[in-house]
Amino acid sequence: MSIINLKEVSRIFNTKNAEVTAVNKVSLSIEKGEIFGVIGFSGAGKSTLVRMLNQLEPTTSGTVEIGGQNVSNLKGRELREFRKKVGMIFQHFNLLWSRTVLENIALPLELSGLSKSERLKRAQELTKLVGLEGRENAYPSELSGGQKQRVGIARALANEPEILLCDEATSALDPQTTDEVLELLLDINEKLNLTIVLITHEMNVIRKICHRVAVMEQGKVVEEGPVISVFRQPQTAITQKFVKQDIVLEEEDSQETLRYLIEAYPKGMLVRLIFEGEKATETIISKVLREYAIDVNILQANIRQTNQLSFGTMLIQLTGEQALVSESLAFFEKNGVGVEVINYG
Ligand SMILES: Nc1ncnc2c1ncn2[C@@H]1O[C@H](COP(=O)(O)OP(=O)(O)O)[C@@H](O)[C@H]1O
Ligand SMILES: [Mg+2]
Repeated sequence: MSIINLKEVSRIFNTKNAEVTAVNKVSLSIEKGEIFGVIGFSGAGKSTLVRMLNQLEPTTSGTVEIGGQNVSNLKGRELREFRKKVGMIFQHFNLLWSRTVLENIALPLELSGLSKSERLKRAQELTKLVGLEGRENAYPSELSGGQKQRVGIARALANEPEILLCDEATSALDPQTTDEVLELLLDINEKLNLTIVLITHEMNVIRKICHRVAVMEQGKVVEEGPVISVFRQPQTAITQKFVKQDIVLEEEDSQETLRYLIEAYPKGMLVRLIFEGEKATETIISKVLREYAIDVNILQANIRQTNQLSFGTMLIQLTGEQALVSESLAFFEKNGVGVEVINYG
């Protein structure tokens, strides 16, 4: 059974001038242990949607079921107990600046009935889990953005939640730090079998760690599926935009680059390989090298790695006996890799 079940969930804000339908009849099921991404532009309703998962935001209509329990109407003690099952991290970390790393992490445990020494012991373990050993006594102002988010993650895990909600958790971080934090989330997902719901406006974040994704536009989920199929065949215009934003980022400035490569590598065969969801690009290349006595020179790669598969293109130079080069092309094709011959010197 799914750990998260949304049925026709809506959230309408009544503002002075208008009714704003932030979330409009969204139905979703998320499985235990899954990393589920929600992508959309600003104002799409992502934050409102995730805030309904821990009931920071009440639902206007529809039902939110978490672990089989309808949480839409919880109040008081029941609501507080339920919230312990759901941790959350934010774009701007939301740390207490007057407290140390360890004290920030131990904070959610103050209501848990644990003694102070038990709380600190647990916080110490969490510090280790998120890779902050040695920084226990630092203050947030002394940490980098990535380290602050690690504290946020540790604090969110303090009560051993079953679900972690991430609201644009990497949006304030540079690309390398983003990757490190995503790695950590993936690691925690695997180690703890933690269900993660991650919202973002960046497709590369979805691609790197999510198993499934829902695309939101104007309060609605307009597309949903495994990240791999959404990448292969985006159905809606908005999804196509997100996929393109990610894949084309540094697309070879084609014609000019090609002319240069043809001049620079006149020998053998210049080939573009097209990966549309292969297991691992390295495996297929090394297989070719093992099977055929030819040389492969990788000139350029524009490969995007999802949680499981590779997408993109790779320009390679193949040199060696003509018959073997031709056979190797057939080998690529037989293994589902697209082949486009660009030049044969
Ligand atoms: N408390 C609120 N009162 C009124 N309107 C709100 C409130 N919170 C969000 N909204 C509106 O709901 C829509 C969705 O907002 P939000 O969920 O924050 O989108 P996202 O996280 O995708 O940027 C926006 O039009 C926003 O202005
Ligand atoms: Mg938001």
